[in-house]
Amino acid sequence: MRSYEEAFSAYWHPVAFSHELKERPLPARLLGRELVVWRTGSGVAVTQRYCAHRGADLCRGAVVEQGLRCGFHGWTYGQDGQCVHIPSQPSVPIPPRALLASYRATERYGLIWVSLAAEPAAPLPEWPELEDGSVATVALPLLDWNVSAGRMLEIVLDVTHLSWVHEGTFGNPAQQEVPPYDVERSPHGVRAQITYPALAPSIGGAPPKVDRTTLTYEVTYPFAVRLSFKPTLFFKHTVYAIASPWSEEKMRCFYFSSYHPNLKKMFPDIFVKSELAILEQDRLTAEAQHPKAHPLDFSGEVHVKADRLTNEYRRGVIALRLGHPVEGPAPD
Ligand code: FES
Ligand SMILES: [Fe+2]
Repeated sequence: MRSYEEAFSAYWHPVAFSHELKERPLPARLLGRELVVWRTGSGVAVTQRYCAHRGADLCRGAVVEQGLRCGFHGWTYGQDGQCVHIPSQPSVPIPPRALLASYRATERYGLIWVSLAAEPAAPLPEWPELEDGSVATVALPLLDWNVSAGRMLEIVLDVTHLSWVHEGTFGNPAQQEVPPYDVERSPHGVRAQITYPALAPSIGGAPPKVDRTTLTYEVTYPFAVRLSFKPTLFFKHTVYAIASPWSEEKMRCFYFSSYHPNLKKMFPDIFVKSELAILEQDRLTAEAQHPKAHPLDFSGEVHVKADRLTNEYRRGVIALRLGHPVEGPAPD
């Protein structure tokens, strides 16, 4: 069977928020590889992190006109990873092995995405509202969790944990039953919608109010989800969570929200504070799950109808992992 790294190398994964990448090269990690990301005149370049000469960390180097210059002896690499200059012997041909592995990179939705494969197996998610100027966005700090990317997505998609794990933030312990809901499947993802009687935080000692909220979950395989919230009392907003796999047991999640631009003054503060509290509840639960790796079949855990969204999502990820088409019978 293909390794985890091999199976998911063929997809786009984010490695940095665009706003973090300025003139300094940035370190990044993806599927067991250490990378360096830097800005070129025409876009973004991503190569292996360590210099082909003597293994220096290229994140300590500098971006110059010709490319990325190592700080140890000044060897300079173009965005295709090819060494273009060796200052200690400028008139001698450059050895063919003076080369860094380089990868495809693209910038979209305020993120830098990398595919370790020459030909990505699927396109990026389609989130047009982020490109037509109709919304403002705010990003959370990076979420580096000791969980597999698949388990991370599952806790975001889990409609049955809200009243348990999120007690004290928005969970409503009085609502334990999950009414039936549908899951739409496609070759690129899954989609579902539920209504949940969230508890809005109490203000000034008043009892918390029930805020009937419609949640719409839209996954793009393997590890991206757009989740929109339409509450009755609070502001409509949408969160985007993209788990970038470092290994089978560890990931970095890029998490941000979009909201109406008129809310720009107040929304970031409210959103960041409440979302961090909610995600900390999720982190404590997810990091303690066992096994850490996202299960590759349905036999080791027990599944019920209320879990349909996470079941369907897992079915799709297993298919990708095994190299099978995503279509097929739904799990029981
Ligand atoms: S180690 Fe990078 S130039 Fe020598
Ligand atoms: Fe959660």
